[in-house]
Amino acid sequence: MGKILVTGGAGYIGTHTSVELLNAGKDIVVLDNFSNSNPQALENVKKITGKDFKFYEGNMIDKNILEKIFSENEIDAVIDFAAYKAVGESVQKPVEYYTNNVSTVLVLLDEMKKHNVKTLVFSSSATVYGDPEVIPITEECKVGGTTNPYGTSKLMVEQILQDLYKSDNDWNIAILRYFNPVGAHESGLIGEDPKGVPANLMPYISKVAAGKLKELSVFGNDYDTKDGTGVRDYIHVVDLAVGHLKALEKLNADKRGMHIYNLGTGTGYSVLDMVKAFETANNIKIPYKIAPRRPGDIATCYSDPKKAKEELGFETKKSLEDMCRDSWNFESNH
Ligand code: WQD
Repeated sequence: MGKILVTGGAGYIGTHTSVELLNAGKDIVVLDNFSNSNPQALENVKKITGKDFKFYEGNMIDKNILEKIFSENEIDAVIDFAAYKAVGESVQKPVEYYTNNVSTVLVLLDEMKKHNVKTLVFSSSATVYGDPEVIPITEECKVGGTTNPYGTSKLMVEQILQDLYKSDNDWNIAILRYFNPVGAHESGLIGEDPKGVPANLMPYISKVAAGKLKELSVFGNDYDTKDGTGVRDYIHVVDLAVGHLKALEKLNADKRGMHIYNLGTGTGYSVLDMVKAFETANNIKIPYKIAPRRPGDIATCYSDPKKAKEELGFETKKSLEDMCRDSWNFESNH
């Protein structure tokens, strides 16, 4: 039985997926350059699972590191998480985002082809739907009209993968479109640990709860939603990690194919819903003020999770309370 290469495996979703893979008895190899993560996260994956695994430090843009990994290990499949993912930052740094999120995948695919490894789970995002025409969003909804280089980079890679599959039907690919990953492993040892001030809602709320940030700015309360604040589909990162295992199982069963799945709960919560849920779950007051809208934001985005349920047998299990409690548990452990 070969190994699974987890690129970006020291990151937020990469570590949680590595825990689930190891707990399921899989053998993994992790590649990361620590651009948005740190070595301690990998030590914590080992602590949580009691399992060891090989690690290579480096960036997929460097063909040599991939050559080294594929020649030193029997790789059966790749889960590719390695990417920058800050929407606002991507507007300021488009070249860095396209280099890191698109060019690296071309290097990876070339290396996989050379070693006849054609099973790939790709980490994509609901941002490929742009400002969705239809809610809830199914995989058949129109993609495009992305409002930032981050979303566009994910759309570009999806197009590359579909062209690749058309050129050679032996490829075995699952594209997973995440909605809003939040929460942390119940141990509090791994979680969302962005460098600097968090751009995303839940880590920001957690830092306000910890007194590290003064108050939350609610970016607009004049959207066409039930309370005027933005509505999103928050999915617990452990549920998301399990979704990757389910996708891998399907690829291993089918041996070839091109599949696209939304990974979300199918329920939308507003910013004020999230503040209230966090306060209730953790018995902590979250001071906030209403601030102007954030450029590039959309009003409402949540998934129709039916396809993943029917084809992968995937269903989210964690509640909104779990998401809030586990986020706070991770924050208070750091
Ligand atoms: C959620 C809601 C904000 C911060 C992004 C990426 C997406 C995925 C998840 C990677 C919105 C509001 C936020 C704050 C706020 N990342 N908000 N005050 O923008 O839905 O999605 O992160 O895959 O690809 O696009 O997530 O957490 O930034 O915002 O009011 O300080 O919270 O306006 O309504 P978003 P978010």
